[in-house]
Amino acid sequence: MNSFTLERVVRFTKKLVRKAIGCSCLEDYSVKERRQIWSMVNPLEKKHIHNCQLLEDRLKMLEYMPKNAVCAEIGILRCEFSQSILEITQPSKLHLIDIDPTAVNIAREKFKDNIASGQVEVHLGDSAATIMAMSENYFDWSYVDGDHSYSGAKRDLEATRLKLKTDGLIAVNDYVFFSVSDFKKYGVLEAVNDFCINHHFEMLFLAFQGRSYNDVVLRQITENVQSIS
Ligand SMILES: C[S@@+](CC[C@H](N)C(=O)[O-])C[C@H]1O[C@@H](n2cnc3c(N)ncnc32)[C@H](O)[C@@H]1O
Repeated sequence: MNSFTLERVVRFTKKLVRKAIGCSCLEDYSVKERRQIWSMVNPLEKKHIHNCQLLEDRLKMLEYMPKNAVCAEIGILRCEFSQSILEITQPSKLHLIDIDPTAVNIAREKFKDNIASGQVEVHLGDSAATIMAMSENYFDWSYVDGDHSYSGAKRDLEATRLKLKTDGLIAVNDYVFFSVSDFKKYGVLEAVNDFCINHHFEMLFLAFQGRSYNDVVLRQITENVQSIS
């Protein structure tokens, strides 16, 4: 038996075992079955992308975000990107939000001085609920990178929109259909497209990331707003 045949036999046997013990996984479905599980993506139109610029990565994207702004990062994990937001955009106020106490403790330790000066505020809790407790017309921009399910991303986008200034920006990480690292379906791409379609937002930037975990920046479509340069 050559190695190709052996690999197929092993895969098939594993599939049978998983089925027998009732724990089938994504690999066990056929292409046709997977297409049925995952509904179609609503496509964007020209008006949603015609001002969109491509950027090499999300650090470059930060250079286009407003300086001295009021902003938030939803989902901070180890606070590595929070540090980049602080260094590159020098916000007047940065809200760091995470549901995981470990992430929040990292932020409290890492940004002790910024918290003392009032530049950084750290929040432990659900992101959409935390954002909804803020004043209206508050954020210049926000970075959405919390719950990557369709409903999670949708909630964060909707909450952010309600607290955003008229010409505010929403940056969203992981604009991707499927996560190759954790072999899991993400819903961010569909949530972003539906958000743009339903709320009349356009993409201003698409910033590439390794393995296609791309970022996008969204802004409400208005007649008078100039493109960002
Ligand atoms: C991908 S990580 C964020 C990475 C970080 N933005 C970066 O670029 O380095 C996602 C984070 O979102 C947090 N999270 C997930 N669901 C959340 C929710 N409903 N509310 C707040 N945070 C959430 C997780 O605890 C995790 O720390």
